[in-house]
Order: sequence, then C-alpha cells, then structure tokens
Amino acid sequence: MLAIITCIFNACYKPVDIAMNLSSHPLMLYAVIVAIVYGAVFSLPEPELRQLAPQELRSWALDVGLRPVPQSFDALRAVVEKPDNPLTPEKIALGERLFNDPILSREDSVSCASCHIIEDGGDDNFATAVGYHGLQNPKHLNSPTVLNAALARSQFWDGRAPDVEAQAAGPIQAPFEMNLTPEEVVAKLSRRPDYVAAFRRVFADDEPALTFANVRKAIGAYERTLLTESAYDRFLRGDDRALSEQALRGFNLFMQKGCKGCHAGMSLGGLSIQRFPLHRPITEVLDNSPFPFPNKGGFLGRDERRYFRVPLLRNVSRTAPYFHNGAVNELREAVRIMSKYQLGREFTPAQIDDVVAFLESLEGEPILGKI
Ligand code: HEC
Ligand code: HEC
Repeated sequence: MLAIITCIFNACYKPVDIAMNLSSHPLMLYAVIVAIVYGAVFSLPEPELRQLAPQELRSWALDVGLRPVPQSFDALRAVVEKPDNPLTPEKIALGERLFNDPILSREDSVSCASCHIIEDGGDDNFATAVGYHGLQNPKHLNSPTVLNAALARSQFWDGRAPDVEAQAAGPIQAPFEMNLTPEEVVAKLSRRPDYVAAFRRVFADDEPALTFANVRKAIGAYERTLLTESAYDRFLRGDDRALSEQALRGFNLFMQKGCKGCHAGMSLGGLSIQRFPLHRPITEVLDNSPFPFPNKGGFLGRDERRYFRVPLLRNVSRTAPYFHNGAVNELREAVRIMSKYQLGREFTPAQIDDVVAFLESLEGEPILGKI
C-alpha cells in the first residue's frame, strides 16, 4: 500500500524517480504496463466498416480459404477421403446402417442417431447428451453436429480425437452413451449373418473382416459423406443473389470483424483449438463461472485451460442450445458472446441480427444422394 501511495506521489511530482521506483518493484511495473495497454486497446477507435460488394466479399472469402462443398463424388473424395479408409458406396451404406442401429449399444438401447439426428441438424437439441439408461453426460457436454464434422482437423469439444474413425470408439464404449466393449460389439455383430456378409464384402482384404477397427472405419466413411449444401455455397460459387441483403451484411461483419480467423475453412470451424473467453473484462474476473454463462458440468476444455476445438458453424441455426455445456439457448446470445469475448467488441443488436441472418444461410441438406 505504502509503495502504491509513494508511486502515485512520485508520478505527480517526480517523473524520473518513478521509473526507478517501478523498476525496483517488478510487480508494480507489470501492473502499470497492463493498465496502459488495456486502456490503449479499449480506447482505440473502432476501424471503420465498409460494406463490400458481393464480388469483393466472395473473392476475399475464397482468398482466406473459405470454400463451398464439393459437387461430385470424386470431388468429395478429394476433399474428405482418408488414405487408409477409401470411400466405396458399399462401405458408406454399411456405415449408415451401423450409425442408425442400436445394436452398437448395451440392450440395443441407443444408436449414434439417437444423439445425432441427421434430418434435424445432426445433433439432438438437448443441453446435455442423454445416453444409456437415460444417463446424462457427466460433464454436461452438448452433442455437437456430425454434419460436416469430417472436415474438422480434430474431434470433440477439446479436440482429443484426430478424426471421425478414432472418434467413433468413444461413444460406443462410454458407460453413459452406448456402454459396450469392443469385444462385445464384435460378438453381437457376429451373431448377425447379414452383418457378417456385409463386412466380408466391404473389407474383402481383411481377415477377419468383422473387427472393431472396421466398425469404426465404416462409420467414419459414412460420416465423411455428411457434408451439407447451403445458400452460402451457392453464393461462394458465384450466385450473387443466393444471400439476402441482411445475410450479406452479416457475412461482411463476419469477415471484417474477425470471426473468420477462428471459424475458418470449408467447415467454418474445426481447424484450430482456441481459448475461450479470450477477452474478459477486468470487471468480470471475480464472477463465479470462468465463462459468460453458468459453468454447468465444470468442463474446462483441453488440459483444463479453457481451450476448445472451434465449433463448426454450418447448420448452427439448427443446433441450439450452444457452447460446450449447452448453457445458451439463443443463437443471438451466442453471437453477442462471441463478439464481446472473442473479438473484444460487442456487436450492436442490429449487427447481431445481420450475423444471425448470415448464419441461417449456412443451413443445408446432406449432399450424398444428390451427387
Ligand atoms: C448419448 C448421446 C451420444 C451418442 C449415443 C453418440 N454421441 Fe457423438 N457426441 C455426443 C457428445 C456429447 C459429443 C461431445 C463429447 C465430447 O466432446 O467429449 C459427441 C461428439 C461426437 C462427434 C464429434 C463432433 C465434433 O465436431 O467434434 C462425432 C463425429 C460423433 N459424436 C459421432 C458419433 C457416432 C459415430 C456415434 C455412434 C458410434 C455417436 N456419436 C454416439 C453425444 C453422443
Ligand atoms: C478466437 C477464436 C474465435 C473467434 C474470433 C470467434 N469464435 Fe466463435 N467460438 C470459438 C470457440 C472456441 C467456441 C466454443 C466455446 C465453447 O463452447 O466453450 C465458439 C463458439 C461459437 C458459437 C457456438 C457454436 C456451438 O455450436 O455451440 C457460435 C455461434 C460462434 N462461435 C460464432 C462466432 C461468431 C459469429 C464470431 C464473430 C463474431 C466468432 N464466433 C468469433 C472461437 C472463436
């Protein structure tokens, strides 16, 4: 305390002394630097926003790596195929069957599709996932969408699985999801002649063909086809009128304000692991939750350091509630939180509406069957 008072006194009367005083109090020096930087950053005038013409917006988007989804099966393979898991129509069909079949769970009670409803945004719209025997995810985690998930560089809220094939091992074994061991999965499927024959056909080079690894490969192959086509894709391909005026304003904000830095690539997310919240006002440091919403479940992301795999934004308007623990119901509120805590500047209500209109233009239907 005494040091602070001396320091303030010095600041007013003895500018030379203060520098010496601070250098002998490293903590104080640090506090002063933080205060100056914080003040400088938050008092900077906001860079002026210019509404780009559709063509300018499109070429900027393509320049930074935003992409429309592929339009042919060959193009799809070029984008999503994994070298050790070639996509064949038979394998995709087997994967689709497994995805929808509760046989992969104890007492045939739950399938992947119970929590990932393909026709309804690829998730379940519950705040927290409910699996075997009605058990909730112990960390109160929300089911993310499986649509376009194969485009991500890692899977799960903390990015702990490298791809969809590896990811599939998780829910089958989790006691609160499907609750089977790999041996039980193989034993159950082996009692079904139709599955035995299908695995022999699809994995003809493998002996045995019916293995847990191949169950994961078949499901992964199916998930790799779950890309969705939207008005946004038509815009990126050159149709200036695919997006409404409002959605174009929202896309402009998305690009100029910096959402694109994290929600990047064809999937508009999934490529990196980022800290959240990034810019937390000093006035909120004593809040109960480390997040700008209740800390239900206590999940703190990767290494418990609030690092999360950036979620994919395609179909986000159909995947409420939001964030890792599903604590936020409204997309508008999710966008407000992002602008304030990830960009450091809260959007106005009109800007939030524009961004939501843009996000709605990302709603799409699976391309498989159409290509
Ligand atoms: C009980 C509900 C439930 C079931 C059943 C379930 N999931 Fe999930 N799924 C979740 C939850 C919750 C997460 C997020 C968990 C986490 O991050 O730890 C998730 C994450 C995923 C992801 C990662 C998506 C991303 O963007 O990170 C994929 C892919 C996925 N599940 C596919 C599957 C497949 C395939 C099956 C069946 C083998 C399955 N799920 C069964 C609830 C479920
Ligand atoms: C610094 C990286 C970063 C920036 C910039 C960023 N986001 Fe995010 N976004 C994230 C992360 C990380 C999460 C997940 C946080 C969590 O669930 O705990 C997220 C979550 C979201 C969600 C919720 C998704 C879901 O399925 O629950 C939406 C919507 C979203 N962001 C939109 C935006 C918009 C719009 C912008 C620009 C205003 C933006 N984000 C800027 C990293 C970022």
